[in-house]
Amino acid sequence: MDVSGKVVVVTGAAQGIGKALCERFHAEGARAVVAADLNADGAAETAANIGGMAFSCDVSKSEEIERMVEEVERELGLIDLFCSNAGVLDIDPDFDNAASATDAQWARSWGVNVMGHVYAARALLPRMIARGGGYFLNTVSAAGLLSQIGAATYSTTKHAGIGFAEHLAITHRDDGIKVSVLCPQGVDTAMVRGASGLQPALLDGVLSPEEVAACVIEGLAAERFLILPHAQVAGYIQKKAADYDRWLGGMSKMRRALKGG
Ligand SMILES: NC(=O)c1ccc[n+]([C@@H]2O[C@H](COP(=O)([O-])OP(=O)(O)OC[C@H]3O[C@@H](n4cnc5c(N)ncnc54)[C@H](O)[C@@H]3O)[C@@H](O)[C@H]2O)c1
Repeated sequence: MDVSGKVVVVTGAAQGIGKALCERFHAEGARAVVAADLNADGAAETAANIGGMAFSCDVSKSEEIERMVEEVERELGLIDLFCSNAGVLDIDPDFDNAASATDAQWARSWGVNVMGHVYAARALLPRMIARGGGYFLNTVSAAGLLSQIGAATYSTTKHAGIGFAEHLAITHRDDGIKVSVLCPQGVDTAMVRGASGLQPALLDGVLSPEEVAACVIEGLAAERFLILPHAQVAGYIQKKAADYDRWLGGMSKMRRALKGG
């Protein structure tokens, strides 16, 4: 997909990767860019900078996404590309206990990192199928393909995010629905700056949100399912698939080093 002339919605657009996506889509000539976020002021700021439309929306609430889709299509035209980018990261309260996250943390991560994608698809699929197609770009993470040491809720819900995107792509390929998953490692945003314990990913190369947005443009142009801004992730997936036990051993070793360091 070439985003020029398209109507695009980006969730989690108040800052970080979502903000960079909005700016890049605008620069590429999108007809309309909608910046949606729980943080209404941040979304308004992103939208104001690019002459876009802001939307206050909690992606973990089905009715809020439904309302946004309805209003955007009424005001701006049919949505060509929906970027389900909002996400949350909780670190395990006890680094030495994989099951230490609270039920509230599990529910929050599931609500945003998984159901946010499901609700977007639920709201848009009937509309897109009726008009012959549409595009979903779901921001997941390399943690959904590999893992995130010290963050059970994040690792698990990001794996679920990949699972849903695969299912969406398989089920609706013949309906003209295209799907890409954006799976970076470390990106210099508030999410990683606010979380301790993410050093392995960060040591492996931190990209700016703008660099990630550039990879998205390229990945959308190629209509590739897997968009990997950190190219080395492709090799890690291959190693994991080739020898799962060896990969788990390597990750445990990395965890020990992280703990000692
Ligand atoms: N930063 C990284 O290293 C990294 C790496 C891989 C994947 N990701 C993913 O990229 C996406 C964007 O993350 P970021 O790094 O820009 O983080 P960020 O924290 O800077 O931005 C996330 C945005 O999502 C919004 N948000 C959170 N919950 C929401 C909800 N319920 N409804 C609507 N908006 C909500 C926040 O208000 C915030 O503006 C996330 O899905 C994240 O998991 C980030």
